[in-house]
Amino acid sequence: MLRDHTLAVLGAGNIGSALVGGLLRGGDLPPERIRVTRRSESGRARLAERFGGVTVTADNAEAVRGASVVLISVKPQNAAALVEEIRQHLAPGTLVLSTLAGVTTDAIGTALQHDLPVVRAMPNTPALVDEGATAIAPGRWAEAVHVETARAVFEAVGLVEVVPEGLMDAVTGLSGSGPAYVFMVIEGLTDAGVKQGLPRPTAHRLAVQTVLGAARLALETGEHPAILRDQVTTPGGTTIAAVAELEKHGLRTMMIDAVQIATERSAQLSRLQE
Ligand SMILES: NC(=O)c1ccc[n+]([C@@H]2O[C@H](COP(=O)([O-])OP(=O)(O)OC[C@H]3O[C@@H](n4cnc5c(N)ncnc54)[C@H](OP(=O)(O)O)[C@@H]3O)[C@@H](O)[C@H]2O)c1
Repeated sequence: MLRDHTLAVLGAGNIGSALVGGLLRGGDLPPERIRVTRRSESGRARLAERFGGVTVTADNAEAVRGASVVLISVKPQNAAALVEEIRQHLAPGTLVLSTLAGVTTDAIGTALQHDLPVVRAMPNTPALVDEGATAIAPGRWAEAVHVETARAVFEAVGLVEVVPEGLMDAVTGLSGSGPAYVFMVIEGLTDAGVKQGLPRPTAHRLAVQTVLGAARLALETGEHPAILRDQVTTPGGTTIAAVAELEKHGLRTMMIDAVQIATERSAQLSRLQE
């Protein structure tokens, strides 16, 4: 899918370099078809050491020249200056991918002053270990082929879902911010184990593996979570006693409310970017 492409990753920090790592490991793109940029010399030295054969430069204009796919993965506050640097150097038809949180495809198109296909993406930090959940949303000039190319790029680091752009705030509230919620669950389970007398390292390992195992079971069986929960709930047993306690505290309502608040906050921040 990506074989004929040349990819420029502008701002290869956490997300950008995770993607490059995933693409190289998966053999999706050979190193000579990838260019990455960073401003800091030390950052570029680390990229060059990690990704042998990949072109590493501080020159964004040079990186996009001849690239068929350009990924903008700088922080939103660095985006305007970056766009100014590359605007004149993008070839017609270049696919522009953006992980800029809260910046719409229309805003990117307007800033670039080109009718280029733009696909916006919201990845999350588990992308660093190839277990990301990324939602992608096509802008007005993006066609099916562009969506498939964007999908291939982000599938290098995990799962990809295509959503209409209007749902990107909801994605931010669920999977973008979601790892933080799960870390809190891990922390809570660990403390709970310690309270019951388990050594902390043991409690931590058991908590982490329980979250990982439950997620994998849900993923691999495709079963509804309620069915999986019923399977471990013996009448009159320990699990139902704990489930009743969680219900009493409104665990599910708490999550629904948390995601709603994060979604609203994302929409609020997006309006500030406009
Ligand atoms: N991390 C996440 O979970 C996540 C999730 C969804 C979306 N995002 C979005 O994805 C983007 C990247 O996030 P991140 O966590 O990967 O950030 P990051 O680690 O800070 O990476 C951004 C990189 O951009 C480089 N940079 C800044 N200005 C540049 C310029 N003009 N030219 C070249 N390189 C430049 C910076 O390095 P130098 O200072 O060396 O240039 C930095 O390493 C952000 O817009 C963020 O909102 C992140």
